Amino acid sequence: MIGTPHVHHRVTDSTNERAKQLAAVGAPHGTLVTADEQTAGRGRQGRQWLAPAGRALLMSVVLHVDERTPLVPLAAAVAVCHAFPEANGIKWPNDVWVDGRKLAGILIEGRPQDGWAVLGIGLNVATEPGELPDELRDIATSLRAAGSDVSTPAEALDVFLPVLEAWLAAPADAILNEWRERDALRGQRISWAGGEGVAAGVGEDGSLLVETDDAGVQSLHAGEVHLGRAGT
Ligand code: BTN
Repeated sequence: MIGTPHVHHRVTDSTNERAKQLAAVGAPHGTLVTADEQTAGRGRQGRQWLAPAGRALLMSVVLHVDERTPLVPLAAAVAVCHAFPEANGIKWPNDVWVDGRKLAGILIEGRPQDGWAVLGIGLNVATEPGELPDELRDIATSLRAAGSDVSTPAEALDVFLPVLEAWLAAPADAILNEWRERDALRGQRISWAGGEGVAAGVGEDGSLLVETDDAGVQSLHAGEVHLGRAGT
């Protein structure tokens, strides 16, 4: 069951780091690590994940995985959208947006070769714009700012866990269909370190398909993409 056992820290470095340590010594599938505050919260692409203490749901789940790993982060993003209907877009690979602003981020780490992965989710619940660093103020949002009735991380966790459990067990085609309905990039001009083109949806393995000007359709499996042309 997702969420059992549950280890909560008032302060820790990173819930993903704690969960990875537990997974490496055999923690059961579904083990949940949460924190009020992280001192070294990690985001994708080596970035930091910043959240004021007590304002965000900071959680990591140990998953015993098989070949379905590529769709786990997509399933988690779909689960966030189902649990919190204010969430209305997903930017590949798995940023959850409310009207173009980031509500939640997802970071999967682990050792699939050893049969486990850690699914980390940071969800802004009650963060006020003034509590965020300048560079995030215009691009992030929270459940509170989006008008949700959910007002604390504990409440958000109660709402989210059963929905996450259901989506992690859902068939691949259902996950992909729901993800595609919320695809915030489809049809948009995008750029990435290796080129630019028009986003054309996601493949069966969760990769981003891009119609490029000169090299046909390319699949991106990892990395960061930006809206707009390169250099804009
Ligand atoms: C991203 O959007 O770049 C992913 C952010 C993931 C942040 C969460 S917060 C809980 C868990 N612990 C971490 O150190 N990171 C993830």
